[in-house]
Amino acid sequence: MSVATRLDRLLANMGYGSRREMQQLVKQGGVTLDGAPVKVADMKVDVGLDLSDRLKIRGARLDPPPGLVLMMHKPVGVTCSHKDAGVLVYSLLPNRWRAREPAISTVGRLDKETSGLLLLTDDGDLLHRIISPRKQVAKRYLARLARPLDGGEAALFAAGGLILEGDDKPVAPALLEPISPNQAYLTVTEGRYHQVRRMFAAVGNHVEALHRDRIGALELPTDLEPGRYRLMTPDEINAIFAPGASESAA
Ligand code: URA
Repeated sequence: MSVATRLDRLLANMGYGSRREMQQLVKQGGVTLDGAPVKVADMKVDVGLDLSDRLKIRGARLDPPPGLVLMMHKPVGVTCSHKDAGVLVYSLLPNRWRAREPAISTVGRLDKETSGLLLLTDDGDLLHRIISPRKQVAKRYLARLARPLDGGEAALFAAGGLILEGDDKPVAPALLEPISPNQAYLTVTEGRYHQVRRMFAAVGNHVEALHRDRIGALELPTDLEPGRYRLMTPDEINAIFAPGASESAA
């Protein structure tokens, strides 16, 4: 689906500068569409997926237009916040992208000390579909534990009903898949604060390292290095909601 928008407003909202600056740029011939200089800054353009192939700003491809969805390999030590102290995930994106309106936000959060698959988007509807408890999108985490599993955790987590410290509602059923005495995958369908760490704390253990490798049926690509991100394809976005991807934890 494409939406027609005023060019100067589009570019200003994408962080290229003020509307006035965009009008100046057009006057100077700094914006081309299909190879020809744009003449009027308030012309309507179709904001479709192909716009970056057609529109050049100062000779460079247009940034991904609104409706972008990114996957990032979040490294340990960066925070999912727009304003915390320390290094923020948004600082891993190009400067201009941080000035966009609507803003690019993380889809849920990973703790500062958690690494792995993190989605970012400026599409509020998509964001809410992914984090909505009703959609039950499964998130899989690889946890390294301070103490060996005692063998009872899988049944306890699968049954649901565990009440975490500070909560009054029990956690939904979750799937524990041990890999070794001190390592396991845990797949959850909720997104509670520090959920995985608190679930292991509730059974007397402690998470030493945590990494998310899957959301729905979407896996963190092995070639996406920590700190790197890329645009997602429509197939990858659909994989988040693939049938069966959520039920495994329920
Ligand atoms: N659970 C946690 O404890 N931390 C995360 O970052 C995500 C899930």
